[in-house]
Amino acid sequence: MAENEGARRAVVTGASSGIGAASARALVAQGWQVVGLARREEKLQALAGELGAAFTYQLCDVTDEASTQAAVQAVLAGGSVKALVNCAGAAIGKDSVAQSSLDDWRAMYELNVLGTLRITQKFLPALEAAEGTVLIISSTAGIEPYEGGGGYCASKAAERVMARILRLELIGKPVRVIDIAPGMVHTDEFSAKRFGGDQAKAQAVYAGVPDPLTAEDIADCVQWSLGQPDTVDIDQIIVRPRAEGSYTKVFRQ
Ligand SMILES: NC(=O)c1ccc[n+]([C@@H]2O[C@H](COP(=O)([O-])OP(=O)(O)OC[C@H]3O[C@@H](n4cnc5c(N)ncnc54)[C@H](OP(=O)(O)O)[C@@H]3O)[C@@H](O)[C@H]2O)c1
Repeated sequence: MAENEGARRAVVTGASSGIGAASARALVAQGWQVVGLARREEKLQALAGELGAAFTYQLCDVTDEASTQAAVQAVLAGGSVKALVNCAGAAIGKDSVAQSSLDDWRAMYELNVLGTLRITQKFLPALEAAEGTVLIISSTAGIEPYEGGGGYCASKAAERVMARILRLELIGKPVRVIDIAPGMVHTDEFSAKRFGGDQAKAQAVYAGVPDPLTAEDIADCVQWSLGQPDTVDIDQIIVRPRAEGSYTKVFRQ
Protein backbone atom coordinates (compact mmCIF):
# COMPACT_ATOMS: atom_id res chain seq x y z
CA MET A 1 0.00 0.00 0.00
CA ALA A 2 1.33 3.45 -0.87
CA GLU A 3 2.28 5.56 2.16
CA ASN A 4 -0.35 8.16 1.23
CA GLU A 5 -3.25 5.79 0.69
CA GLY A 6 -6.37 7.75 1.58
CA ALA A 7 -4.57 11.05 2.23
CA ARG A 8 -3.77 13.94 -0.06
CA ARG A 9 -0.03 14.24 -0.47
CA ALA A 10 1.79 17.54 -0.95
CA VAL A 11 5.42 18.36 -1.71
CA VAL A 12 6.70 21.59 -0.13
CA THR A 13 10.04 22.99 -1.25
CA GLY A 14 11.90 25.19 1.21
CA ALA A 15 10.26 23.29 4.05
CA SER A 16 13.22 23.70 6.41
CA SER A 17 12.27 27.22 7.57
CA GLY A 18 9.90 30.15 7.34
CA ILE A 19 6.88 29.96 5.06
CA GLY A 20 7.70 26.46 3.82
CA ALA A 21 7.91 24.98 7.32
CA ALA A 22 4.71 26.78 8.34
CA SER A 23 2.97 25.50 5.21
CA ALA A 24 4.01 21.95 6.04
CA ARG A 25 2.54 22.36 9.53
CA ALA A 26 -0.69 23.88 8.22
CA LEU A 27 -1.17 21.18 5.61
CA VAL A 28 -0.52 18.37 8.08
CA ALA A 29 -3.07 19.98 10.40
CA GLN A 30 -5.57 19.73 7.53
CA GLY A 31 -4.92 16.01 7.08
CA TRP A 32 -2.36 16.16 4.28
CA GLN A 33 0.71 13.98 4.02
CA VAL A 34 3.64 16.32 3.36
CA VAL A 35 7.06 15.67 1.87
CA GLY A 36 9.43 18.53 2.62
CA LEU A 37 12.33 19.35 0.33
CA ALA A 38 15.34 21.48 1.29
CA ARG A 39 19.10 21.22 1.83
CA ARG A 40 19.45 21.38 5.65
CA GLU A 41 18.77 17.96 7.07
CA GLU A 42 18.84 18.97 10.76
CA LYS A 43 15.98 21.40 10.20
CA LEU A 44 13.92 18.88 8.23
CA GLN A 45 14.62 16.23 10.86
CA ALA A 46 13.38 18.54 13.61
CA LEU A 47 10.18 19.19 11.68
CA ALA A 48 9.72 15.46 11.16
CA GLY A 49 10.11 14.98 14.92
CA GLU A 50 7.44 17.61 15.51
CA LEU A 51 4.93 16.49 12.87
CA GLY A 52 5.31 12.70 13.09
CA ALA A 53 4.45 10.24 10.35
CA ALA A 54 2.50 12.77 8.28
CA PHE A 55 5.76 14.56 7.40
CA THR A 56 8.69 13.01 5.58
CA TYR A 57 11.49 14.73 3.74
CA GLN A 58 13.99 14.45 0.93
CA LEU A 59 17.20 16.42 0.79
CA CYS A 60 17.13 18.51 -2.36
CA ASP A 61 19.00 21.42 -3.86
CA VAL A 62 16.61 22.79 -6.46
CA THR A 63 19.47 24.50 -8.28
CA ASP A 64 21.10 21.13 -8.92
CA GLU A 65 19.68 18.88 -11.62
CA ALA A 66 20.92 15.55 -10.22
CA SER A 67 19.83 16.39 -6.67
CA THR A 68 16.37 17.41 -7.85
CA GLN A 69 15.98 14.39 -10.08
CA ALA A 70 16.86 12.02 -7.22
CA ALA A 71 14.49 13.76 -4.81
CA VAL A 72 11.58 13.75 -7.26
CA GLN A 73 12.16 10.08 -8.05
CA ALA A 74 12.15 9.21 -4.35
CA VAL A 75 8.96 11.20 -3.74
CA LEU A 76 7.13 9.58 -6.65
CA ALA A 77 8.21 6.11 -5.50
CA GLY A 78 6.24 6.82 -2.32
CA GLY A 79 2.95 7.50 -4.09
CA SER A 80 0.92 10.10 -5.93
CA VAL A 81 1.33 13.84 -5.48
CA LYS A 82 -1.69 16.12 -5.25
CA ALA A 83 0.08 19.45 -4.69
CA LEU A 84 3.46 21.05 -5.22
CA VAL A 85 4.15 24.12 -3.10
CA ASN A 86 7.16 26.04 -4.45
CA CYS A 87 8.50 27.92 -1.47
CA ALA A 88 12.28 27.61 -1.86
CA GLY A 89 13.62 31.05 -2.65
CA ALA A 90 15.73 33.94 -1.48
CA ALA A 91 16.64 37.56 -1.90
CA ILE A 92 20.33 38.32 -2.10
CA GLY A 93 21.57 41.86 -1.57
CA LYS A 94 19.90 45.22 -1.95
CA ASP A 95 22.23 46.95 -4.39
CA SER A 96 21.28 49.25 -7.22
CA VAL A 97 21.08 47.94 -10.74
CA ALA A 98 24.16 49.98 -11.54
CA GLN A 99 26.20 48.38 -8.78
CA SER A 100 24.74 44.96 -8.09
CA SER A 101 26.74 41.84 -8.67
CA LEU A 102 26.07 39.53 -11.57
CA ASP A 103 26.66 36.62 -9.21
CA ASP A 104 23.83 37.75 -6.91
CA TRP A 105 21.43 38.08 -9.82
CA ARG A 106 22.53 34.71 -11.19
CA ALA A 107 22.03 33.03 -7.80
CA MET A 108 18.50 34.45 -7.48
CA TYR A 109 17.62 33.39 -11.01
CA GLU A 110 19.03 29.91 -10.41
CA LEU A 111 17.04 29.46 -7.20
CA ASN A 112 13.85 31.47 -7.63
CA VAL A 113 13.23 31.07 -11.34
CA LEU A 114 15.05 28.02 -12.65
CA GLY A 115 14.72 26.05 -9.40
CA THR A 116 10.96 26.56 -9.46
CA LEU A 117 10.82 25.69 -13.15
CA ARG A 118 13.00 22.60 -12.75
CA ILE A 119 10.97 21.05 -9.97
CA THR A 120 7.62 22.04 -11.42
CA GLN A 121 8.43 20.42 -14.77
CA LYS A 122 9.39 17.18 -13.05
CA PHE A 123 6.20 16.93 -10.99
CA LEU A 124 3.76 18.04 -13.69
CA PRO A 125 2.92 14.58 -15.10
CA ALA A 126 2.23 13.24 -11.60
CA LEU A 127 0.17 16.31 -10.73
CA GLU A 128 -1.89 15.88 -13.87
CA ALA A 129 -2.50 12.22 -13.06
CA ALA A 130 -3.68 13.19 -9.55
CA GLU A 131 -5.77 16.22 -10.63
CA GLY A 132 -3.33 18.25 -8.63
CA THR A 133 -2.09 21.79 -8.09
CA VAL A 134 1.09 23.76 -8.68
CA LEU A 135 1.40 26.55 -6.13
CA ILE A 136 4.12 29.19 -6.34
CA ILE A 137 5.04 31.58 -3.56
CA SER A 138 6.12 34.62 -5.55
CA SER A 139 6.11 38.07 -3.96
CA THR A 140 4.69 41.56 -4.26
CA ALA A 141 8.27 42.32 -5.31
CA GLY A 142 7.24 40.75 -8.60
CA ILE A 143 4.40 43.25 -8.98
CA GLU A 144 5.88 46.53 -7.75
CA PRO A 145 9.62 46.85 -8.32
CA TYR A 146 11.53 48.93 -5.78
CA GLU A 147 14.93 50.58 -5.72
CA GLY A 148 17.64 48.17 -4.62
CA GLY A 149 15.43 45.18 -5.42
CA GLY A 150 16.58 44.68 -9.02
CA GLY A 151 17.54 41.03 -9.14
CA TYR A 152 14.97 39.87 -6.59
CA CYS A 153 12.07 41.80 -8.15
CA ALA A 154 13.01 40.55 -11.62
CA SER A 155 13.19 36.94 -10.43
CA LYS A 156 9.86 37.19 -8.62
CA ALA A 157 8.23 38.82 -11.65
CA ALA A 158 9.52 35.87 -13.66
CA GLU A 159 7.93 33.44 -11.20
CA ARG A 160 4.60 35.23 -11.52
CA VAL A 161 4.80 35.14 -15.30
CA MET A 162 5.66 31.45 -15.15
CA ALA A 163 2.60 30.76 -13.01
CA ARG A 164 0.32 32.75 -15.29
CA ILE A 165 1.60 31.16 -18.50
CA LEU A 166 1.49 27.69 -16.99
CA ARG A 167 -2.12 28.31 -16.05
CA LEU A 168 -2.96 29.24 -19.64
CA GLU A 169 -1.01 26.35 -21.12
CA LEU A 170 -2.74 23.85 -18.83
CA ILE A 171 -6.28 24.91 -19.61
CA GLY A 172 -8.28 21.76 -20.38
CA LYS A 173 -6.01 19.63 -18.20
CA PRO A 174 -6.94 18.81 -14.62
CA VAL A 175 -4.21 20.90 -12.97
CA ARG A 176 -4.66 24.11 -11.02
CA VAL A 177 -1.99 26.81 -10.80
CA ILE A 178 -1.98 29.18 -7.84
CA ASP A 179 0.28 32.19 -7.34
CA ILE A 180 0.53 33.61 -3.83
CA ALA A 181 2.32 36.97 -3.69
CA PRO A 182 3.07 38.01 -0.11
CA GLY A 183 4.24 41.45 0.96
CA MET A 184 6.24 41.88 4.16
CA VAL A 185 6.46 38.60 6.09
CA HIS A 186 8.60 38.55 9.22
CA THR A 187 10.36 35.19 9.05
CA ASP A 188 13.51 34.36 11.00
CA GLU A 189 15.94 33.94 8.14
CA PHE A 190 14.78 35.74 4.98
CA SER A 191 16.15 39.25 5.61
CA ALA A 192 19.22 38.01 7.48
CA LYS A 193 20.17 35.96 4.43
CA ARG A 194 19.47 38.92 2.15
CA PHE A 195 21.97 41.05 4.07
CA GLY A 196 24.62 38.34 4.42
CA GLY A 197 23.86 37.69 8.11
CA ASP A 198 23.78 41.37 9.16
CA GLN A 199 21.09 41.19 11.87
CA ALA A 200 20.87 44.96 12.34
CA LYS A 201 20.00 45.48 8.69
CA ALA A 202 17.61 42.54 8.80
CA GLN A 203 15.75 43.87 11.85
CA ALA A 204 15.53 47.35 10.33
CA VAL A 205 13.27 45.92 7.62
CA TYR A 206 10.54 45.28 10.20
CA ALA A 207 11.36 48.09 12.66
CA GLY A 208 8.25 49.77 14.04
CA VAL A 209 5.85 47.95 11.72
CA PRO A 210 2.96 47.05 14.03
CA ASP A 211 2.16 43.64 12.63
CA PRO A 212 4.13 42.29 9.70
CA LEU A 213 2.65 39.10 8.27
CA THR A 214 3.87 35.86 9.76
CA ALA A 215 4.83 32.62 8.03
CA GLU A 216 1.61 31.20 9.49
CA ASP A 217 -0.48 33.85 7.71
CA ILE A 218 0.93 32.72 4.37
CA ALA A 219 0.61 29.06 5.31
CA ASP A 220 -3.06 29.72 5.95
CA CYS A 221 -3.42 31.07 2.39
CA VAL A 222 -1.61 27.97 1.13
CA GLN A 223 -3.82 25.45 2.92
CA TRP A 224 -7.01 27.41 2.16
CA SER A 225 -6.36 27.76 -1.56
CA LEU A 226 -5.29 24.12 -1.88
CA GLY A 227 -8.35 23.06 0.11
CA GLN A 228 -10.82 24.48 -2.42
CA PRO A 229 -12.58 21.99 -4.70
CA ASP A 230 -10.35 20.72 -7.54
CA THR A 231 -12.40 22.72 -10.05
CA VAL A 232 -11.91 26.04 -8.21
CA ASP A 233 -8.59 27.71 -9.03
CA ILE A 234 -7.54 30.59 -6.79
CA ASP A 235 -5.39 32.06 -9.56
CA GLN A 236 -3.66 34.73 -7.50
CA ILE A 237 -3.53 35.94 -3.94
CA ILE A 238 -1.85 39.21 -3.04
CA VAL A 239 -1.50 39.44 0.73
CA ARG A 240 0.14 42.20 2.76
CA PRO A 241 0.12 43.38 6.35
CA ARG A 242 -2.48 46.08 6.97
CA ALA A 243 0.37 48.52 7.61
CA GLU A 244 1.93 48.02 4.18
CA GLY A 245 0.40 49.76 1.18
CA SER A 246 3.42 49.06 -0.97
CA TYR A 247 7.09 48.27 -0.38
CA THR A 248 7.82 51.99 -0.05
CA LYS A 249 4.61 52.99 1.77
CA VAL A 250 4.83 51.28 5.14
CA PHE A 251 3.42 52.58 8.43
CA ARG A 252 6.01 52.46 11.23
CA GLN A 253 5.30 53.39 14.85
N1 LIG B 1 9.78 36.73 4.00
C1 LIG B 1 9.19 37.56 3.16
O1 LIG B 1 9.03 38.77 3.45
C2 LIG B 1 8.70 37.09 1.83
C3 LIG B 1 7.80 37.90 1.12
C4 LIG B 1 7.35 37.48 -0.13
C5 LIG B 1 7.77 36.28 -0.64
N2 LIG B 1 8.65 35.51 0.05
C6 LIG B 1 9.10 34.26 -0.57
O2 LIG B 1 8.70 33.18 0.23
C7 LIG B 1 9.62 32.10 0.08
C8 LIG B 1 10.07 31.64 1.47
O3 LIG B 1 10.63 32.75 2.16
P1 LIG B 1 10.89 32.69 3.74
O4 LIG B 1 10.64 34.05 4.26
O5 LIG B 1 10.19 31.54 4.33
O6 LIG B 1 12.48 32.50 3.74
P2 LIG B 1 13.43 31.39 4.40
O7 LIG B 1 13.01 31.10 5.79
O8 LIG B 1 14.81 31.87 4.15
O9 LIG B 1 13.13 30.08 3.54
C9 LIG B 1 13.78 29.80 2.35
C10 LIG B 1 13.72 28.30 2.13
O10 LIG B 1 14.28 28.00 0.83
C11 LIG B 1 15.14 26.89 0.98
N3 LIG B 1 16.20 26.92 -0.02
C12 LIG B 1 17.11 27.89 -0.25
N4 LIG B 1 17.94 27.53 -1.23
C13 LIG B 1 17.53 26.29 -1.64
C14 LIG B 1 18.00 25.37 -2.61
N5 LIG B 1 19.05 25.67 -3.41
N6 LIG B 1 17.35 24.20 -2.76
C15 LIG B 1 16.29 23.90 -1.97
N7 LIG B 1 15.80 24.72 -1.04
C16 LIG B 1 16.43 25.90 -0.88
C17 LIG B 1 15.73 27.02 2.38
O11 LIG B 1 16.15 25.76 2.86
P3 LIG B 1 17.65 25.21 2.90
O12 LIG B 1 18.55 26.37 3.17
O13 LIG B 1 17.59 24.20 4.01
O14 LIG B 1 17.88 24.58 1.56
C18 LIG B 1 14.51 27.51 3.15
O15 LIG B 1 13.74 26.41 3.58
C19 LIG B 1 10.75 32.62 -0.81
O16 LIG B 1 10.50 32.21 -2.14
C20 LIG B 1 10.60 34.13 -0.70
O17 LIG B 1 11.09 34.79 -1.86
C21 LIG B 1 9.12 35.88 1.27
